[in-house]
Amino acid sequence: MKQIKKITCIGAGYVGGPTMSVIAQKNPNVEVTVVDLNHARIAAWNDEDLDNLPVYEPGLDAVVGEARGRNLFFSTEVDRAIDEADMIFISVNTPTKTYGKGKGQAADLKFIELCARQIAAVAKNDKIVVEKSTLPVRTAEALKNILENTGNGVNFHILSNPEFLAEGTAVTDLHNPDRVLIGGEDAEAIEALVNVYAAWVPRERILTTNLWSSELSKLVANAFLAQRVSSINAISELCEVTGANVDEVARAIGQDSRIGGKFLKASVGFGGSCFQKDILNLVYIARTYNLHEVADYWEQVIIMNDHQKTRFAEKIIQTMYNTVNGKHIAFLGWAFKKDTNDTRESAAIYVADHLLDEEAQVVVYDPKVSAEQIYRDLDYLGTRSPEDNRRLVKVVDNAYEALDGAHAAAILTEWDEFKGYDWAKVKEGMKKPSFVFDGRKLLDRKELNRLGFAYYAIGE
Ligand code: NAD
Ligand code: UGA
Repeated sequence: MKQIKKITCIGAGYVGGPTMSVIAQKNPNVEVTVVDLNHARIAAWNDEDLDNLPVYEPGLDAVVGEARGRNLFFSTEVDRAIDEADMIFISVNTPTKTYGKGKGQAADLKFIELCARQIAAVAKNDKIVVEKSTLPVRTAEALKNILENTGNGVNFHILSNPEFLAEGTAVTDLHNPDRVLIGGEDAEAIEALVNVYAAWVPRERILTTNLWSSELSKLVANAFLAQRVSSINAISELCEVTGANVDEVARAIGQDSRIGGKFLKASVGFGGSCFQKDILNLVYIARTYNLHEVADYWEQVIIMNDHQKTRFAEKIIQTMYNTVNGKHIAFLGWAFKKDTNDTRESAAIYVADHLLDEEAQVVVYDPKVSAEQIYRDLDYLGTRSPEDNRRLVKVVDNAYEALDGAHAAAILTEWDEFKGYDWAKVKEGMKKPSFVFDGRKLLDRKELNRLGFAYYAIGE
């Protein structure tokens, strides 16, 4: 197999951008071009000031700084990049369908299909096409069909290479992955992609499988991870009524090496662009094969997660004497987890929506999320008019300002900086009684009680 010299990636998002930056960093002899239809996004990837990259990930600025302009390029010239590449990654979004058959569950593959048709139309020599996006099992079959039927008679080899990075730790995950998964049929094409990763990943961590195992494993990995969060969150509610402490239970079970201690942190509910979308997709696939018990089993993970978000909002209302009308509630955090500016499916959005229905006055502070994004998230729900969202929600760029005069603080994201605040000073500025609702179990209960806060944390 010839050595790969030019890689193109279609989609410069949270996956395409960081993944290709690391591939370029570790393969200085391979030219990597990341293309996107979104001009603003590409401009931001090309911004001289590395603080302005469109994706915030610790350490990403250094990687981009090292490779950009050397062998890493960001461009909107999709056709040209397809034409020149030996290997093309497809890393576009695959959101849940919002219309038609499978609405609300199936993955929308329109962006994938558009990429396939564009590759087929442009390619004048053989290409390896790599599925980097998360896709329903057997998508490669459809891709192959489109490429072969609409192409110019050149050969396409399709590989599945799902991405397992988590946001907020993308760079360390990419530098040091637990495994790289490559599914395919053609041994030479597989070897070509193995070689790209072998530049920095030990061979024994590069797994090769058939196409369908690879595609399905990605959905299953996310389903198992999300299931752990829903499992511990289910137990958190039981802890609250029995006097057990969910952190202690998590530690006790996590010490069992068969269970393991990771991903057992009870929270206000998982968010992020993928867990819900991928489980819904798994549920949909199971149902299309008439596997209803399998579908019901996995659907319960989502039902539990929705319950946890609602339960947290209800707890706030109930504790504050069954009314939050006109009350100032400071939201600390809006991102779906710390160290990212991504808010997709963040629990904060749904908790806020619930409180706004009760006419609460929500003041949000998040160290990385802009006011525009917060209003966009709320407007997207369509629960109330944009004017009402702006009337009820204020966004500030300083936590102390958010907390000043507040009836309650709600912690929605586990940003480290929240732990270091001068909570004694915060208390002075807040209304009495001063409530703290900790959806991330971030703060020290003893200390907060000592300062006189009424402190509620999930699972205690
Ligand atoms: P994203 O929305 O951040 O980025 C996708 C990009 O693709 C967008 O910038 C969009 O403009 C571009 N695009 C769409 N169609 C295009 C086309 N025809 N030509 C050129 N550009 C096009 O999405 P993401 O978070 O990077 O996710 C991409 C895929 O990776 C999804 O399938 C997702 O499930 C999967 N994934 C995401 C993560 C994550 O942490 N976000 C992790 C693992 C896997
Ligand atoms: C997740 C997976 O961890 C990645 O392997 C996968 O590649 C990615 O989805 C994807 O396919 O998009 P991500 O969503 O970025 O990554 O972040 P996670 O760290 O998995 O957190 C997801 C959500 O679960 C967050 O809201 C987080 O706060 C919550 N969570 C996580 C908990 O509430 N408790 C935990 O113990 C762990």
